[in-house]
Amino acid sequence: MGTLTKQAALKTATKPSLAGKATARTAATAPAWSRRAMRALGGENVVDVLTRQHRQIRLGFLRAALPGPWRRRNFDRLMRLLAVHEAAEEAHVHPVARRVLRHGRELAARRRAEEKQAKELLIALWHTGPDGAGYLRRLNEVRRVVSRHAAREEREEFQALRKAISLPRLRMLGAEVKFAQAYAPTRPHRWVNNEATNKLAAPILGPVDRALDALRRRSAS
Ligand SMILES: [Fe+2]
Ligand SMILES: [Fe+2]
Repeated sequence: MGTLTKQAALKTATKPSLAGKATARTAATAPAWSRRAMRALGGENVVDVLTRQHRQIRLGFLRAALPGPWRRRNFDRLMRLLAVHEAAEEAHVHPVARRVLRHGRELAARRRAEEKQAKELLIALWHTGPDGAGYLRRLNEVRRVVSRHAAREEREEFQALRKAISLPRLRMLGAEVKFAQAYAPTRPHRWVNNEATNKLAAPILGPVDRALDALRRRSAS
């Protein structure tokens, strides 16, 4: 697999591909029901949705490190946000980048490899939990890997998507991401790490995870 140089990433950001133009045309003729659904979900474009979530994730790491009675709650919120965020990117954003951007295949493969690495660390952190030995060390390890990954997404992928596809299509993708996150799994699952497994597993694992979350909240209160 070829590697994506910084120069190639910049080229990608400035020269939308033919596929990108085709996608933009498709968005302009999107059916009325999907435009209505998009408006109902806020009409926020996908890059703004994901960049805002990156900020929340960075803040979430700081909150989850704080000592005190709120640590468990902050930890659970961070795990949930990371799980739904990455699930939506894997299922709905990287596949579009792969199809639409020049060098998209290499770019998406690099992001997926980073997400796979982060998921392994997240699973270890999940099992350690906020009361376990080595929690802060593991939390910091995940924070470093996730922050580096998020910065690369913003620099190499999001900027390129913003230039390559139309605003209506970006907004539709934003709605798709929000909708997917509403039923996505709320904890990391090792084998759920690409478009197909996310789309297949979400309707099953999402409700199961949410039921387990509710049970745990009830037993903790
Ligand atoms: Fe990601
Ligand atoms: Fe991300």
